[in-house]
Formats: sequence, structure tokens, C-alpha cells
Amino acid sequence: MSDAKLTINGKDYEFPVVEGTEGEVGIDVARLRGETGAVSLDPGYGNTGSCQSAITYIDGENGVLRYRGYPIEDLAEKTTFEEIISLLVWGELPDEERLEELRTTLAEYAVIDEGIKDVLSGFPRTAHPMAMLSACMSALESYYDTSGSSDEDVLRVIAGMNTLAAYIYRYKQGLPYVYPSKDLNYAENFLHMMYGTPGEDPDVNEVIAEAIDKLLILHADHEQNCSASTTRMVGSAKATLYASVAAGVGALSGPLHGGANQRVLEMLQSIQDDGGDLEKYIDLAKDKSSEFRLMGFGHRVYKNFDPRAKILKTSADDVLADLGKDDPLLDIARDLEQVALEDEFFVKRRLYPNVDFYSGIIYRALEVPTEMFTVMFALGRISGWVAQWKEMLDDPAFRIHRPRQIYIGEGEREIPPISER
Ligand code: SDX
Repeated sequence: MSDAKLTINGKDYEFPVVEGTEGEVGIDVARLRGETGAVSLDPGYGNTGSCQSAITYIDGENGVLRYRGYPIEDLAEKTTFEEIISLLVWGELPDEERLEELRTTLAEYAVIDEGIKDVLSGFPRTAHPMAMLSACMSALESYYDTSGSSDEDVLRVIAGMNTLAAYIYRYKQGLPYVYPSKDLNYAENFLHMMYGTPGEDPDVNEVIAEAIDKLLILHADHEQNCSASTTRMVGSAKATLYASVAAGVGALSGPLHGGANQRVLEMLQSIQDDGGDLEKYIDLAKDKSSEFRLMGFGHRVYKNFDPRAKILKTSADDVLADLGKDDPLLDIARDLEQVALEDEFFVKRRLYPNVDFYSGIIYRALEVPTEMFTVMFALGRISGWVAQWKEMLDDPAFRIHRPRQIYIGEGEREIPPISER
């Protein structure tokens, strides 16, 4: 593909064009400032590629999502989360031997240092789980005699996330901790540590374990989203993996990102408590003067259905049926989706349900407390954060991330004496 041409102040420049596997086009502006003195300006990075990546492909126009070339629909149906960890972090689905090795190592590393319980005990039980998770992930590094960024750390961070999520739940509920079992897989161990009884053999509901496993797969990675980019940013300073994913947890906690799943449930509950007046909330979402947004709707990349939302919408039915439960909030969610998708405001802006719109309904059916929903998101996304972090450090073009800016503040001026301020 021919170079991109740019004219600045009457002078012509040419910059190479990079073409991706699926024909995406990027203008390589690495030499832009050196050659022209100008920088690109793209608040929110909506038009800026931060890297070339081989992990996840999203076609937002057509609602396509693939991990390492495999469609998310196939992965959700035919693999387990441990297989996804291998696929995302090391690039291929594992064979039987590697899968078993992964399972046993993750179960072994899920036994974390007792010192973490002292870190947790410093929090009020009312603290938000995501704040606790970020702090504990940072603290976790202190208990291992590793570089903090080794292959061992990769699995300790993923395994530790599972135990920390469950421990945080138990601490907030005032319940005794339940240790992981070496005989369980990742999703089963999560449920055992969350809902098990100390000292008793695991008794995990396999329907729920399979639902959790699918949720982890659907949340595993999503290319350069806010929290993955944060993890890359922190890791680019050669901070440890623990520090990098702790920052990713912080980014994910925001209501515009992973925090949306908790707010979707709160929104649906408000609509139910308010008599189910859907039009009122649709109008509120359209009203620029109101802070209210239709949580779980819209996406920076998807301008079509988020394929994960489609899978979760069906999965919500299956889980509720398997558990013999009925949830009126699911009916409200469906009706809300229908009304929104027929409304010009949403149609014109191509706003569709995203991954957070139905996930909360499933977490609720699995009796995960609403406050823990975003922790559940982090539990799947830890695999993507680690994969993105690793790919960045292995990238021949690796360098510390340090964006430029356009300064629009005051010109140089003298400091006035305080009597004249
Ligand atoms: C995730 O990036 C990822 O990949 C994220 C994620 C992942 O897997 O990592 O997919 C996970 O974060 C999903 C998104 C979860 N967040 C929410 O559900 C919160 C509600 N959604 C919005 O806040 C919003 O849609 C964002 C944050 C998701 C996207 O924001 P953008 O890309 O900056 O879009 P925008 O704010 O510029 O919106 C464009 C227009 C605006 O109206 P106009 O100025 O054109 O008149 O659409 C409107 C917005 O006001 N709009 C909404 C809306 N989302 C966008 N209006 C009402 N309700 C909404 N939800």
C-alpha cells in the first residue's frame, strides 16, 4: 500500500502505511514529530493505534471478536478458561498434557501467603471490592522471591486473582476463609473458595461452575481497552506485572468501563422500583442535561451488537432455567433493549448492548453480590491483561509509553508579590 501523504505549512511529507491481517490500515507516524515538528492530537485515542498486536481481533462494524483467530462463539462453547489462558498468554490452545500442567500449577499457586489476610483486615468491611483487589494485587508481589515479572509470576498473578476475589468476598461477609483445592479447576476453585465450608470437601455445582467458566472466557480479553492499555502503560516503565495489573484493576473499576456491569443491575433495579417506566429512563438517557446513561449500552469500537452480549443474552436464559430461577430484571433488560434499539437516538448513534448489559443478570442468578460484579470481570480479564503486558515487553518496538501534548496554558509570566495576587 502506498505511503500516506501529508502537507504541513506548504511542505509535503510521506509516512509509511501498515496493513493488518484483516486489512486494517494504520499510518505509521513514529517519525512525525522528528520530520515535521508537529504531533498528532487524538483525545481519547479513538483514532490512534498504540501497538501492533496478534492477540485479539475486533471488527466493531460487524460485531466480530476473535482470540488468536478463533471466534468468541466457538471458544465460549468448546473451551475452558485454562485453555484461553494458554491461548492468550502463550499464543496457542494447549494439548492435554499442557492443560493438566496449567490446571495443577494454577491450583498450587492459588494458595497465597497468609500475610494477605492482614492486608485485607486493614480495610473496612464496607470498602469496595475493586479497591481491595487493586491493593492486594500490589501487595501480593511482596511474598514471592521472584523478579515480579517472570513466567512464574504470570501464573501467580492469574492464580492469585482467583483467591483474592474469593477472600475479599469472605472478608466483607465476615466469613472464615476457604482454601483452594488442588483437585479443582479455576472456576470450580473460585466457587469453592467463595461459598465452600472451611475444612470440608468441595461441593461445587457444576452448572454454576460451567456458567462462571463461560463468563471468564467472554471477559478474557478485548484488545486495547482502557484497562489493558493501562496495564501496558504501567508495564512499559518496566514496573512489575503485579503493579501493572493492579493499575488495570483501577481502570476497570470505572463505571464507563468494567464498573458498568454493577451499574446495569442498579439501573434495572431502579426501573423496577420506579414501576417499570422504560420510556422515562430512555428519555433520561437521551437528555443531555441529565447525567444518566443507559448503562450496558454503547461502545467505543462496536457499532453493532457486541457478540459477547448476544452470547450472554442466551446464557442468561439457560442459567436461570438450569437453576430453576426467574428474574423480573431479565424481562426489564430485554424490554429496555427492544425499546432502545427502536429509538432513533440509539439507532443514529449505533448504540447496542455491550458485554455488561446481561452479565449482571447471570452473576445475580449465581448469587454473586452486585458489588462483586466488576471483580468477576477482572477475574476473566486478568488473562488478557497478562497477555497484553507480555506481548508489549516482547515487542521489538518496545519503549516506555510517553504521549506528547499540545500546551494551551499561559505564556511565560513573572510571579507577582502575594499582596498583588
Ligand atoms: C466495556 O473498550 C472496550 O473494549 C471496553 C469493554 C472491554 O471488554 O474491555 O468492551 C468493556 O467497558 C464496555 C462498556 C461499558 N460501559 C457502559 O456500558 C457505560 C455506558 N456506555 C457509555 O458511557 C459509552 O457508550 C462508552 C463509554 C462505552 C463509550 O463511550 P465513547 O466511545 O466515548 O462514546 P461517546 O461518549 O462519545 O458517545 C457517543 C454518543 C454521545 O452522544 P452525542 O454527543 O453524539 O450526542 O452516544 C451517546 C453519547 O452521549 N452515548 C450514550 C451512551 N453511550 C454513548 N447515550 C446514552 N447512553 C449511553 N450508554
